[in-house]
Amino acid sequence: MSGNSLKKESGERKIRWPKIFIPRNHKPFSLPLGEKKETIKSRWKWLGFLSLLTALMIFILPGRNVGNGLLVAILLFVLFIFSQANIRKFQFRDKDLLFLATLLVLMLSMTRLSMEVFPILGQAIPEIPANAYVYGIGLAAGGILVRILLNSETALIFAAWISILGGLILGSDLFFTIYFFIGNVLGAHSVEFSENRGILLKAGAKVGIANAGMVVAQNFISAPFNFYELSFCLFFGFLGGVVAGGVALGVLPFFEWVFGYTTNIKLLELANLNHPLLKRMILEAPGTYHHSIVVSTMAEAAARAVKANPLLARVSAYYHDIGKISKPLYFVENQGYHQNKHDKLEPSLSSLILISHVKEGVELAREYRLGEKIQNIIQQHHGTSLISFFYQKAKDIEDPEMEQVNEEAYRYHGPKPQTKEAGLVLLADAVEAASRSLVHPTPARLQGLVQRIINNVFLDGQLDECELTLKDLHQIAKCFNTILTSIHHHRVEYPLTTPKEGNGKKRNNGDISKQLAKAGGLRFWKNKKSSEENLKRPGV
Ligand SMILES: [Fe+2]
Ligand SMILES: [Fe+2]
Repeated sequence: MSGNSLKKESGERKIRWPKIFIPRNHKPFSLPLGEKKETIKSRWKWLGFLSLLTALMIFILPGRNVGNGLLVAILLFVLFIFSQANIRKFQFRDKDLLFLATLLVLMLSMTRLSMEVFPILGQAIPEIPANAYVYGIGLAAGGILVRILLNSETALIFAAWISILGGLILGSDLFFTIYFFIGNVLGAHSVEFSENRGILLKAGAKVGIANAGMVVAQNFISAPFNFYELSFCLFFGFLGGVVAGGVALGVLPFFEWVFGYTTNIKLLELANLNHPLLKRMILEAPGTYHHSIVVSTMAEAAARAVKANPLLARVSAYYHDIGKISKPLYFVENQGYHQNKHDKLEPSLSSLILISHVKEGVELAREYRLGEKIQNIIQQHHGTSLISFFYQKAKDIEDPEMEQVNEEAYRYHGPKPQTKEAGLVLLADAVEAASRSLVHPTPARLQGLVQRIINNVFLDGQLDECELTLKDLHQIAKCFNTILTSIHHHRVEYPLTTPKEGNGKKRNNGDISKQLAKAGGLRFWKNKKSSEENLKRPGV
């Protein structure tokens, strides 16, 4: 057998490993859209950030020696690399980094300062045991704030950082590392979907109870306190939780304002229908306002079903079409019985007007400070979908010898939805708009329509970049069906009564046919002419 044939044979026998066996290529320093250039840039950025933080920690930690600095640098670095490679939501923008660094330095400086003040307090008030004060440090505020402003995954990593560093400040005490870690994690857990500022104080109280429990545990583990000492330690333990809630409550508006974060509390403020933008929409584009309310109901219900943020879905749906208020009559829901303004326009111009409502919406969101989350959803609520009506119209009048119709000119500019909530608003918007075109919206027809629209959106690739799964789409369709069936429900015709006979008489609510007979209602239907004379239609 010749060498060539051997080579050929070995080539043919070459095992092709399934993709699952190919090791994942982790890029610990890459950002979500990690191109090579971006990766290098971010690597330097991260290294600079960690070096600066380490230097600050050396200054804050007692002793101020290089050993502490090295320990801190390794701790921050290793946890950071692990989290970025394995935790999907551990991806930051520059402002998030700055926020985390500011919070870490602030909280640890507060701890260090407290450690300087406690001995002085111990001397000033000898009745209170000096070692009891330390339980009152409200370090759990860090975890609460990170959970509210970023996410739970980052809050967990932050809790590990801050509790280890807090333990180092308190003389490398393992008990206090655990004490702070549990406080931070419980605090972060207690503010899930926080919808009012009172939740922060409640979270603080829960942390306080857990702190008191840990003080009791310590009493059993190490040298037991006397009752007098224990009662003060319990009191300060509980106070530590309350202080954490109070600090988080006081500092939250500052971080919201400086870093431009949109919290659930801010969303609730924006959900007020007296907001100037919504008031303008009611007056200038009432059809769009009504459409937005229905979309918000659908998006909120679906968000609950797929464990997205229902408040964000609802509030962003209120504002998603806010860009239509500059040219309301170019959108069918506001035209009423007026002539369609697009009849006299070229399809390309019509599509430009439609596309522009997204850009104008984003500008209004920026002007009225609606926050980044809502602004992003406004920008993504049509993804890159095709305005099929005007595209088809352009194709129908297209002259093949002249310029060909470019499909891209009839697509929204995107980007596609990047979050579950943005995907929900896109779907609810498309389904609600389509449901208006049904002539006789029976439950079966609505169900078919919902299925068709969701399938089309999915096949068009509009949901490729958000986290909705096929299982989620099934749940969403069920929610949309229920809501649309309720909205388009059928009612029995109401009997009509003439005001003359109705006035001054006691009404019998029990028998409709009797009422009709008395009021001449049957005559009304039989004699159309007389009914038209009697009929008073307000507003006509
Ligand atoms: Fe829209
Ligand atoms: Fe819409």
